[in-house]
This record gives sequence, C-alpha cells and structure tokens, in this order.
Amino acid sequence: MLLLSVVFSGCSSKPTPQQAQAKKTDAVVQKDFQPVMDVRSVTEKTRQVYRRYCAQCHGVKGHGDGINAPYLVVPPRDHTKSDYLETRSDQQLFDVIKLGGLAVGRAPCMPAWEHTFENKTIRSLVNYIRELCDCKAL
Ligand code: HEC
Repeated sequence: MLLLSVVFSGCSSKPTPQQAQAKKTDAVVQKDFQPVMDVRSVTEKTRQVYRRYCAQCHGVKGHGDGINAPYLVVPPRDHTKSDYLETRSDQQLFDVIKLGGLAVGRAPCMPAWEHTFENKTIRSLVNYIRELCDCKAL
C-alpha cells in the first residue's frame, strides 16, 4: 500500500517543486524560440523542400530549368531573376506558392501548396527565393 501511494503521488496533478521548476524553464525556452520562428529563416529543411517539390519545374538552383520545364506551356519562373522578383512583394510570392498560379492570375501549372505546407514553411520558401535572386521587393 505504501508503495502504491508512492507510485500515485508520482503522477498526481499537483506538481512537486522540481516539476514546477521544470515547467517554468520550459516556458522560458519556448518564449526564447518565438522570435526565431517568426523570422521563418531558411533552414536545411527549406532547401530540401525546394529540391523535392519545386526543383522539378524551377530547377535545383532556381533557374527555371527543371526536368518538367520543357513540357509546360508557360515556363516556370526563373527564381534567380532579380529584376523581375524585385517587382513582387513577399506577400505576392507567399500567395502564389500557397494558392497556386491560377488564384493570382498566373498560369495554372504553378500548383497550389496550401495543403502540403504550413504557412511557416511557405514563408521560409519566400525567403529562400529572396536568397536565390539575391534581391528584395523594391
Ligand atoms: C509543375 C511545375 C511547377 C512546380 C512543381 C512548382 N512551380 Fe512555381 N511556377 C511554375 C510555373 C509554370 C510558373 C510561372 C507562372 C506564370 O508565369 O504564369 C511558376 C511560378 C512561380 C513563382 C512566381 C510567380 C510570379 O509572380 O510570377 C513562384 C514564386 C513559384 N513558382 C514558386 C514555387 C515554389 C516555392 C514551388 C515549390 C513549393 C513551386 N513553385 C513549384 C511551375 C511550377
């Protein structure tokens, strides 16, 4: 019986001082992470996503020369062309990736990715395109 009560007290809803302390530290760590998440910085995952999902049309380096490119009626956008991409806002790039070409008055062969990626991944893709073109919205 003594043993049982020890076991039960281990998972009681009232946290021991150590547990309370642990919870506090967790919260601090999470809060510290927040700004990093907001930047939606380009990570290795972003590059992987681009290679896996975008490169077939846009090319591994973003030059618009992926293996599917010759078969498309409208050529995939060259993501290294800064003079064009400077005329697009980050929001416009976000929308075309999320909702697809058709939704923003572009060719329907640019697919919509809203069911594939979370918004934060799409934001990091926008940042990655900014890296490829080495440009910002003017
Ligand atoms: C099936 C081929 C295909 C795939 C896969 C594809 N795209 Fe595209 N994408 C296109 C085509 C074609 C266009 C050009 C549309 C136009 O100019 O009307 C385009 C255009 C774009 C544009 C520029 C839109 C503009 O303002 O002109 C962006 C940004 C873009 N794609 C991002 C991506 C990203 C990011 C991915 C991967 C998640 C991706 N694309 C995957 C075919 C593709």
